[in-house]
Amino acid sequence: MSAEEWNARYSESGFAYGTEPNDFLKSAFRNLPKGDVLMLADGEGRNGVFLATQGYRVTSVDWSSVGLEKAQALARERGVQITTKLCDLAEFRIEPCRWDGIVSIFCHLPKPARQRLHWACVQGLKQDGTFLLEAYSRKQLRFGTGGPKREDLLMSLDETAEELRGLTIELAQEIERDVFEGKYHAGRSAVIQIIARKSQRR
Ligand SMILES: C[S@@+](CC[C@H](N)C(=O)[O-])C[C@H]1O[C@@H](n2cnc3c(N)ncnc32)[C@H](O)[C@@H]1O
Repeated sequence: MSAEEWNARYSESGFAYGTEPNDFLKSAFRNLPKGDVLMLADGEGRNGVFLATQGYRVTSVDWSSVGLEKAQALARERGVQITTKLCDLAEFRIEPCRWDGIVSIFCHLPKPARQRLHWACVQGLKQDGTFLLEAYSRKQLRFGTGGPKREDLLMSLDETAEELRGLTIELAQEIERDVFEGKYHAGRSAVIQIIARKSQRR
């Protein structure tokens, strides 16, 4: 989907993925050191706003202006502040050693852009900084309950772990779970989940 198509989706009434955080983020966010967290493809902001309510300084990036406006509105409603940046993640520059946490929830990019972004995430974390990811795996095509319909946009655990080389993988799993996160993510799903940390150099 193009940025215009995402704007059209987010112009519908309500929140496409709800206003509650993603289940995996909610269960795993305590792995993120307190500090600055970069949210990749944060859409309407349910995940970034949640982390802001937990005391993190949040920067949300997405290429949908409508999504980021709704993210700011949600932050105001919840009484927190987030920074939003409108940009194409295929071209986004991540400053090295800048972030305590980087979070990627259902951020599905074409392979070359994804590989480049994951490499930049490894560089962009501070020592002990943590990367959290949940995304649909290729098996999701069988379920048809959300996510891209193109195999090249879906992720494999091995490829993604390889793209994150340089980080210590603390959790890497492919599972099936019930995802009920808004009307576009609804039902039994195949996902990968990763927690990876930039460990101290020895
Ligand atoms: C399925 S939504 C997930 C939104 C959010 N992470 C959540 O879980 O609610 C995917 C998001 O990726 C964003 N996106 C897709 N390709 C992008 C790109 N090249 N640059 C920036 N954002 C992109 C879309 O605008 C959309 O907000």
